[in-house]
Amino acid sequence: MNKNTNWGFATRSIHFGQSPDPTTGAIVCPIYQTSGFAFQSAEQAARVFASEEEGFIYTRISNPTVDRFERKMAALEEGEAALAVSSGMAAVTTAIFTILGAGDEIVASKTLYGGNYHLFESTLPKLGIKTRFVEPDNLEDWEKNINSKTKLLFAETPGNPKLNLLDIEAISKLAKSAGIPLMVDNTLNTPYLLKPLSLGADIVIHSATKFICGNGTSIGGIIIGKKELIDEARAITLRDIGPALSPFNAWLFLLGLETLAPRMQWHSRSAQKIAEFLENHPQVSWVSYPGLPSHPDHQLALKQMKNGFGGMISFGVKGGLEAGKSLLNRVKLCTIVPNLGDSRSLIIHPASTTHQLITPEQRLETGVTPDLIRLSVGLEDPEDIIADLVQALE
Ligand SMILES: Cc1ncc(COP(=O)(O)O)c(C=O)c1O
Repeated sequence: MNKNTNWGFATRSIHFGQSPDPTTGAIVCPIYQTSGFAFQSAEQAARVFASEEEGFIYTRISNPTVDRFERKMAALEEGEAALAVSSGMAAVTTAIFTILGAGDEIVASKTLYGGNYHLFESTLPKLGIKTRFVEPDNLEDWEKNINSKTKLLFAETPGNPKLNLLDIEAISKLAKSAGIPLMVDNTLNTPYLLKPLSLGADIVIHSATKFICGNGTSIGGIIIGKKELIDEARAITLRDIGPALSPFNAWLFLLGLETLAPRMQWHSRSAQKIAEFLENHPQVSWVSYPGLPSHPDHQLALKQMKNGFGGMISFGVKGGLEAGKSLLNRVKLCTIVPNLGDSRSLIIHPASTTHQLITPEQRLETGVTPDLIRLSVGLEDPEDIIADLVQALE
């Protein structure tokens, strides 16, 4: 396994763990499409099961292709270890079920992806886990909601789709003084733009479905953190609950990682141009993009994010919901899809789609106003995306 710690991000994302296959010389990691792995003897099987010897047992728990993806993600996020699972939601729930049980509590930012919000607000309480929601930028709010039952702090940065930022250093100091782990959903950044662990967070999760995959082909997720936590998540939670990542999806994510750095640069450069265009368009009432000086967290973005501000833009159109829907129905290059991080530009109205399951009041809490349009800027020429928006806005 290549492991040059002096390499830059782009080099590591291509070469780390990419030594040719020892049996065939295949330069790309093979897809080990198998459910189980043979042992040489009954004794060896017993040793591997008892963790006295390293080895693969069964693909629900580990697999060589999935292992490559896990090691590469751990290296890119600068964490000790990683566990890949079948979706971003599986990453959140697997981490939570490893750390919390009935009677425990979470303190979470209010501004979350609809699936995360619904999980915390509706599903986890059925299992006896309560979440207290707080304003992400209000340290006092975090502090006063922590009590003896709190076992986890959780936030997204930027929050999907409001695109407000979390001051990871400030919240992680609070987490450390309370002795509670801070888990950050880093899906919208990828480690190319932000490494939450290096800023003091304890656990990072991703929906790998998004920018890590990069072309909208596969669903997957990953948890990165201390080896002890990852080992327990694999040996207990993943084994018992079973959201394993397929080797084929892991292979597609490995391919995605090889181009992550140039893709994120392109996404960020295009999104900046498009956000500036939208901000100056007479039909647009507001724009949220961390790279705009008008963004309330722009100074934090400059301090915390590296290499760019990401590929996501939220904005409102004058005329509210109806005008927003009309825009969606008129775009020709952008596609109405509830995904993000694709090579194609994707546009969606979150209030009626990704955040439909929660109440209108909860939507406002999570920052989803009725007029909010979310644009995931793709890898097309930015001028063509702008031209599409110009014709749709007119
Ligand atoms: C920030 C964020 N976290 C988690 C998820 C869930 O990921 P998945 O769809 O892979 O389960 C999403 C999905 O949109 C997301 O945007």
